[in-house]
Amino acid sequence: MNELTDLTEPTTPAPADPVAWPQDRTCPYHPPTGYDPLRDGPGLSRITLFDGRPVWAVTGHGTARALLADPRLSSDRRRDDFPMPTARAAGVRDRRVALLGLDDPEHQTQRRMMIPAFTVKRASLLRPSIQRIVDELLDAMTAQGPPADLVSAFALPVPSMVICDLLGVPYADHEFFEAQSRRLLRGPTAADSLEARAQLEGYLGDLVDSKQRDAVPGDAVLDELVHQRLRDGELSRSEVLSLAMILLVAGHETTANMISLGTFTLLQNPERLAELRADPALMPAAVEELMRMLSIADGLLRVALEDIEVAGETIREGDGVVFATSVINRDESVYEDPDALDWNRPARHHVGFGFGIHQCLGQNLARAELEIALTTLWERLPDLRLAAPPEKIPFKPGDTIQGMLELPVTW
Ligand code: HEM
Repeated sequence: MNELTDLTEPTTPAPADPVAWPQDRTCPYHPPTGYDPLRDGPGLSRITLFDGRPVWAVTGHGTARALLADPRLSSDRRRDDFPMPTARAAGVRDRRVALLGLDDPEHQTQRRMMIPAFTVKRASLLRPSIQRIVDELLDAMTAQGPPADLVSAFALPVPSMVICDLLGVPYADHEFFEAQSRRLLRGPTAADSLEARAQLEGYLGDLVDSKQRDAVPGDAVLDELVHQRLRDGELSRSEVLSLAMILLVAGHETTANMISLGTFTLLQNPERLAELRADPALMPAAVEELMRMLSIADGLLRVALEDIEVAGETIREGDGVVFATSVINRDESVYEDPDALDWNRPARHHVGFGFGIHQCLGQNLARAELEIALTTLWERLPDLRLAAPPEKIPFKPGDTIQGMLELPVTW
């Protein structure tokens, strides 16, 4: 190349095309390799959604925590400019999502009502019943196997039974509501997901009606909502229904995915598993590190209510913002060697449960379930192993909460 052509060359490389969001993971417990440009980026980058809409991806840990605590970013699903990550999500868009879909002060009113049922203390009081549920499910699984599908025999029923007890939903109906939640989150078409939501709403509506007829209310969360908040006019019937819906769906799907994907990840990292089995006291730290590493809720959504200057950029009013938790939780300025599992690192500040006013309401419960489920699984089945080659085991696509569709195991 001569000097003349050299001078006519651009001095900076042409900007690469924005990363498309969301993408399927290439390994179930690592961010998709397609997100690599975001990992090398400045903490805030442009990405493109399915419909070509450019939005911001927050990828730096400090920027994420600042923005997740910033009231200029809205979670209000009723706004037309709220970003929808996929065509299916846009098609099943629900504008009446309790808690998660509201801003303060509306959000705070609902959150204050729910907090007493989800404190650390309430979660620790639930530990004996979580342990009983885990023991009984493992009794049933070992009586029938090996082999077994760990998702249907264990990972899904544990949180499903726990949330039923807590909410006051009959577990006898679990096949119905698990199937509807599955269709709602991952139905083949938007029409199918909408139909599933209508089914769930109808089911929860009948449950609320029957609780209203109870002369002596039970002591579960839904009983309290119906017999106090609804009766006293603090919540409308449709608010009670949306709260019941989010608690039921968020309460079982997410934790089930953490149990299945957490087990798969441990089986793929035998040295870390051996450390954990040698010292079960490591389990609480291991749960935090798995939450960081797996970042199963990848892509928290917001829209800007005003212009925000951050990380050298201006997020304009009306811009969509996606928090790429899988990338934020691997920020190497915060986590040394971020792609490695390490029980000794301080992982606690991960954003796997979000951050700010919407930080997961069920996190204390989820931690208790994960600690008990994973500890007991390895105590009872020390030889647990995969019953299929890892590359043949189906995991969930990138546009949903990450987890395993099936997990064939033997022991
Ligand atoms: C390991 C399991 C779980 C994970 C990874 C998880 C993750 C999350 C995340 C990331 C958020 C914040 C969303 C945002 O800011 O946009 C959230 C919120 C929420 N989660 Fe969880 N969650 C889990 C378990 C649970 C459980 C067991 C419940 C139980 C009832 C629950 C109920 C909720 C609710 C109600 C919210 C909305 C809170 C609000 O807006 O104030 N989650 N969760």
